[in-house]
Amino acid sequence: LSTTEVDISQIEEGQSVTVVWRGKPVFVRHRNAEEIEQAAKDDSASMVDVQKDADRVQKPEWLILIGVCTHLGCVPLGQKPGDPRGDFGGWFCPCHGSHYDTSGRIRKGPAPLNLAVPPYEFLDDEHVKIG
Ligand code: FES
Repeated sequence: LSTTEVDISQIEEGQSVTVVWRGKPVFVRHRNAEEIEQAAKDDSASMVDVQKDADRVQKPEWLILIGVCTHLGCVPLGQKPGDPRGDFGGWFCPCHGSHYDTSGRIRKGPAPLNLAVPPYEFLDDEHVKIG
């Protein structure tokens, strides 16, 4: 399938789901106010792949990312409750220790780039189409 439709109506604030798009995991996180605030605050932090949070989301509460570490392609942890989320509250790649923040930006470790944002569009308030 070249596109994947996701029903986001059941994803509670603070929860994440993983869907598959073109054989790759895609992370859909319903960010809470704290995560959104942290991501904006971190805009001014030093980082290797400089990007503003606002340029990575269409709606601040929905962060949508390709769940593939930009180092050597492992799937970072942070989707399930109890998963380690790394030092910056986003995702942690256990393969070689890359830490991603609440915007999916690489902040520490060997990964060279932020988690990629796939093409997507909101079909309505409850559905998003990836791809
Ligand atoms: Fe993620 Fe190496 S593959 S840190």
